[in-house]
Amino acid sequence: MDILKKIEQYRSQEEKLRWEGTFADYLKLVKEKPWVAQSAHSRIYNMIRDAGVEEENGHKVYRFFSHEMFGLEEALEKLVEEYFHPAAKRLDVRKRILLLMGPVSGGKSTLVTMLKRGLEAYSRTDRGAVYAIKGCPMHEDPLHLIPQHLREDFYREYGIKVEGNLSPLNTMRLEEEYGGRIEDVLVERIFLSEDKRVGIGTFSPSDPKSQDIADLTGSIDFSTIAEYGSESDPRAYRFDGELNKANRGLMEFQEMLKCDEKFLWHLLSLTQEGNFKAGRFALISADELIVAHTNETEYRSFISNKKNEALHSRIIVMPVPYNLKVSQEERIYEKMIRDSDVADVHIAPHTLKVAAMFTVLTRLKEPKRGDIDLLKKMRLYDGENVEGFNSSDLNELKKEYQDEGMSGIDPRYVINRISSTIIRKKVPSINALDVLRSLKEGLDQHPSITQELREKYLNFISVARKEYDEMAKKEVQKAFVYSYEESAKTLMDNYLDNVEAFCNKSKLRDPLTGEEINPDEKLMRSIEEQIGISENAKKAFREEILIRISALARKGKRFDYRSHARLREAIQKKLFADLKDVVKITTSAKTPDEQQLKKINEVVARLIDEHGYNSTSANELLRYVGSLLNR
Ligand SMILES: Nc1ncnc2c1ncn2[C@@H]1O[C@H](COP(=O)(O)OP(=O)(O)OP(=O)(O)O)[C@@H](O)[C@H]1O
Ligand SMILES: [Mg+2]
Repeated sequence: MDILKKIEQYRSQEEKLRWEGTFADYLKLVKEKPWVAQSAHSRIYNMIRDAGVEEENGHKVYRFFSHEMFGLEEALEKLVEEYFHPAAKRLDVRKRILLLMGPVSGGKSTLVTMLKRGLEAYSRTDRGAVYAIKGCPMHEDPLHLIPQHLREDFYREYGIKVEGNLSPLNTMRLEEEYGGRIEDVLVERIFLSEDKRVGIGTFSPSDPKSQDIADLTGSIDFSTIAEYGSESDPRAYRFDGELNKANRGLMEFQEMLKCDEKFLWHLLSLTQEGNFKAGRFALISADELIVAHTNETEYRSFISNKKNEALHSRIIVMPVPYNLKVSQEERIYEKMIRDSDVADVHIAPHTLKVAAMFTVLTRLKEPKRGDIDLLKKMRLYDGENVEGFNSSDLNELKKEYQDEGMSGIDPRYVINRISSTIIRKKVPSINALDVLRSLKEGLDQHPSITQELREKYLNFISVARKEYDEMAKKEVQKAFVYSYEESAKTLMDNYLDNVEAFCNKSKLRDPLTGEEINPDEKLMRSIEEQIGISENAKKAFREEILIRISALARKGKRFDYRSHARLREAIQKKLFADLKDVVKITTSAKTPDEQQLKKINEVVARLIDEHGYNSTSANELLRYVGSLLNR
């Protein structure tokens, strides 16, 4: 019932948006809302901008893309600034074919689909409204009706530049149906729709022998030749090629470089003059974005072919690389899983993160500067704090390679491996180890991975595995502490009291007896040793902390255990070291005694309630950590 209501609502909304009038009425509308006369490129640019733009770290982030494209902010910024923006300003780039170049499953099709769906919705809004000559199969721009010699005048009055000639069909209709009276020609509002083939087209090459240019530019309708008497009567022509139908919006040219040359030649005049030839007619003006996609190998072979030179300069290539941020890669997997039929399987915490680490490592290039390794680079790229490095190091690293992210493991491979893990395991719950194992097995079957690359990737799998081991241990240890934050805070306060007394050469008061006692050197050292602070360095370390505390106090802020990354690490390690034996014995006991059993149940419950596990994955985690601690 609900859905039927919605369908009805949608229809009545469209009914409300409908508009029809004469060209004279339309001109009044244009006066009121000049943006309705914008070009297709300008509409697409405004659609992207209207969704919102944010500044982040000196880069523009376009909200239009951000709910489906992850980690590609910089590539998208470049795409908008270097293509859509100038194209919207009627600069020549708009006539060029936009060629998205990137590795397999890097999001090229997704990007184009977003533009298509976006246009469908935008054309239903006030800011994105589109009007066309009524009954025109190409939904021609009504302003084309204005004769060439009056366009200067029109520009002066309306501030709008009209480009493009009235198509042969509408030239004829103007005479036959309207007796040449432009002002009477009917105009209507149109709603872009891929299904209805209004303003959105898709061309994909098929077998070169059978592919017909008619698919692009339309064809003669033989059944009507008798009626109109001649092949060159535009009414005997079907303007139903993808280029025709996509007028006013966008045409996606799939696998463009796989296409037969004669098709590409057709694009020459389109990319130069903005018009194309159909049948025996005068050139037809096209107002549409042509977007194609390809991979790097195909593109290289295309430009190395001399024959393609003319077309080459008429293409704007925009790279769409792989995402290089672990956290964003996780979001990609989450999205792909949500959209798949394994959406209800339990995926243990850290599973996708660990898979993402492996994937991103395969995409990154070895840093040229010697002071940083790939793992740290990966962390920096994801916006983490890495000791000893800052944002200028990050920028420097990014500049080392211009073409990073054009190779490596694709997200679809990972999702396929995850699916096959799920199917094989028969339990609706998978963890990081399952996925790493499956990724590893898959490498053997992957046809495009050389022996050398395989070695390298296997190494990344073990790097990711080590990272997981650390995460798993931490998780279990945390779950063993009744309240981790609380314990960390208590230990930290205790340490700081002692450090203060030590630096001031004063004494502490025993909370129970009220006696004066010396700072507890053993306690302080047991914490400092966790992060390798030597006997000689301890004084400087303690003083530095006190300085930090008073600096914060001056700003009215309190020092807490998160204020100092190294101290925090030391506290954490100390807590875990104290716990290690309990964890080790409890988790690996073959026949746990009553007390151990109680503890295990408590920990499992905490993992489920607070850390996102289910009982299968929590028990698997405990067993695994038990085996790790006993090595
Ligand atoms: N950066 C990304 N952000 C969000 N999703 C992504 C990203 N990269 C890839 N994907 C997802 O990966 C899958 C494959 O992407 P898509 O089909 O768009 O890639 P493609 O570049 O067109 O690949 P192909 O070269 O195989 O045609 C999609 O589900 C897509 O949503
Ligand atoms: Mg694709």
